[in-house]
Amino acid sequence: MRYIGCKNNLLSYIEAVTLSNCGRDGVFCDLFAGTHTVAAHFKKLGFQIISNDLLYVAYIFGRALIQNNEKPTFSRLTNLPETDSSNLFDGISNYLKALNYLNQLEGTSDGFIFNNYCPSGDNEYKRKYLSDRNGKKIDVIRQQIETWRQDKLTTEAEYYVLLLSLLEAVSKVTNISGTYAAYLKDWDARTYKTLKLKPFFPIPSDKEHVVYQEDANSLIEQIECDILYLDPPYNSRQYITNYHLLETIARYDNPHVYGKTGLRQYSESEKSAYCSKSECLKAFADLISKAKAKHIIISYNSEGIMSEDEISYVLGLKGEKPEVIPIDYRRFKSNSSGRLKNKKTVQEYLFYVQTK
Ligand SMILES: C[S@@+](CC[C@H](N)C(=O)[O-])C[C@H]1O[C@@H](n2cnc3c(N)ncnc32)[C@H](O)[C@@H]1O
Repeated sequence: MRYIGCKNNLLSYIEAVTLSNCGRDGVFCDLFAGTHTVAAHFKKLGFQIISNDLLYVAYIFGRALIQNNEKPTFSRLTNLPETDSSNLFDGISNYLKALNYLNQLEGTSDGFIFNNYCPSGDNEYKRKYLSDRNGKKIDVIRQQIETWRQDKLTTEAEYYVLLLSLLEAVSKVTNISGTYAAYLKDWDARTYKTLKLKPFFPIPSDKEHVVYQEDANSLIEQIECDILYLDPPYNSRQYITNYHLLETIARYDNPHVYGKTGLRQYSESEKSAYCSKSECLKAFADLISKAKAKHIIISYNSEGIMSEDEISYVLGLKGEKPEVIPIDYRRFKSNSSGRLKNKKTVQEYLFYVQTK
């Protein structure tokens, strides 16, 4: 999934800095985990993971990819119709049957997503985030996933695996150029595709991994780790605003939505101090001062709210001689038609400090 600040392209740098300074095992904690790309990478490398993010969307990624070590079997779903592919994959045939069952659902016009985010829905703006058909499919699939959970026909891990498949599928058919803060005026080609959930397989591991959905500054008081990896937001756009539609599909909590883009209302506790010029540095200094970790690694970039000097100064209070490792990284900016343009170089940094 495309996600602002996702570190997919920087994994090799983060791995190199981590392994050369901190060793090859221990507890790796990713406190601003987003898509959980970094946490998943270090889980694959054999670390024990603690991960966290403020958003429920991110929590779903974490529960499906990090906390869950098992292939989903969906063994309690015994009454699903047979499918052609079901006996090809030993042990996961019920999983494929479950996805096929969800994918063939069509839905009606009384669901929340259809009514608020589709042009024929009951909203004065005739919002164009999703085609009518895909909006209805999202509602009926989301409701079915919840019903299976309530009827105890899926395990907790299977529930999150299905939600992750749904979120990934939604991101492939939405009429946006990058984030969900606004929809496009004209329909993008991807919106004509039919929403389709695909299987994915968790990362096997024999360790116990834990995922949280908390404010990083509160959680830091409750945890200890060997390596603390921090990738806070670096600009003033709140993630809850940029990803509001995914968050609403994930929570499916019928929020009050408003304005042309159908933003969900959010509370003070859902806002990030790291997106505020006046609060960011204070929050960061507080987080670092409370950290109980042997090593701290931070991702940040040259366009961020905090300067390189400010970050180095705060880290210097925690350990001696923090290192700054610059990485040249191409930033992608999207225009209104969704095409990539204005590629310009932004300096990405990794900061490293061994704590006293
Ligand atoms: C730069 S993104 C992280 C991207 C992630 N490393 C990845 O590869 O997908 C920053 C993340 O921090 C989360 N966040 C912002 N403020 C937070 C806070 N106070 N506590 C926990 N998470 C927070 C946002 O929801 C967002 O997912």
